[in-house]
Amino acid sequence: MRAYIAGIGMHVPERIVTNADLEKMMDTTDEWITERSGIKERHYAKPGEGPSDLALPAAKEALEMAGLKAEDIDLIMFSTVASDYMIPGGGCILNEYLGIPGTPALDIRVQCSGFIYGLAVARGFIESGIYRNILFVAAEVQTVALDLRTEGRDTAVLFGDGAGAVVIRATDDPNRGILTSKLHADGRYARDLMIEAPSTRDNPWLTKEILDQNKHKITMNGRNVFKHAVTNFPAVINEALEALHMDKSEVKLVVTHQANLRISEAVAKRLELPMHDVVFSNIQKYGNTTSASIPIALYEAFKAGRFTIGDTLVLASFGSGFTWGAVVLKW
Ligand code: UT7
Repeated sequence: MRAYIAGIGMHVPERIVTNADLEKMMDTTDEWITERSGIKERHYAKPGEGPSDLALPAAKEALEMAGLKAEDIDLIMFSTVASDYMIPGGGCILNEYLGIPGTPALDIRVQCSGFIYGLAVARGFIESGIYRNILFVAAEVQTVALDLRTEGRDTAVLFGDGAGAVVIRATDDPNRGILTSKLHADGRYARDLMIEAPSTRDNPWLTKEILDQNKHKITMNGRNVFKHAVTNFPAVINEALEALHMDKSEVKLVVTHQANLRISEAVAKRLELPMHDVVFSNIQKYGNTTSASIPIALYEAFKAGRFTIGDTLVLASFGSGFTWGAVVLKW
């Protein structure tokens, strides 16, 4: 039994924030952002909009493509760095929105690698015969954690909000489904990309002092993230292909976590793959949407006709933790 993606959907909040908009908030330029990251614009959730609100339309679209109703789902999986509430997880809110009380809801919290880790978990549930239909949504509202002053500009210009969803189903078709997954983490770099608070290390976990110190905003050692990303992305992609004795010439499309266009270009170069033909990028429109970025990119690549049933795809991530991983699948 294999796990294959039977449906896909996406949703981004209405508000578009361009580089010109950011120029009005902080000392930055469209030129700097474009040159360093490739990003032109990104979407910001409005106050009151949580990841579950973005997840719902994406989930509905994925269910429709899979030809399933919410009631057919055996398990909800929900990847996010920052849930609607501290407790409970976003999967429970999506369960409420979909009106399927009783359906289990599992949150995945692996930052930028959440979608890759989640696919590996879903594959395990399906190949073991435990579940047949899984709804897996990655939804992020992280712009609330951006320091939109000049002090935070190195990080703030990169991120956006959004959601991507897939329906993963069981099949006995040998020409479809997830072939392998490789996952990694290195906690020595846990503090190189983090949001420090609210934290259970503080009691109470949120105080005026914590807010004054800006501990509730994303901080990043960008250079170290960049350095590790450009080596670990190609390494894990090669590891996954080697496990399958597969040559990269057999790969139709590589969809990486959309962290930075320069990172994607460096990965393409190291793998000796043509950037525009084989390595997909849509970071220009959405920025880095953390775990939502791979399903959003996969959705747009699918809609653009970049692959079809039976094609081999490589999905890969690198991000906070550090965590990284790759999945090889036949669409
Ligand atoms: O999911 C993983 C998410 N994270 C990433 O993928 C990030 C990986 N890292 C990167 O992509 C890059 O490190 C950045 C794009 C974040 C930064 O690029 P960089 O080439 O490493 O720049 P830098 O941080 O070394 O800064 C270079 C200069 C500095 O000025 P000085 O000291 O040379 O005068 C910064 O103050 O650029 C300045 N700078 C900016 N200028 C205009 C930093 N941010 C900005 C900005 N606008 N937004």
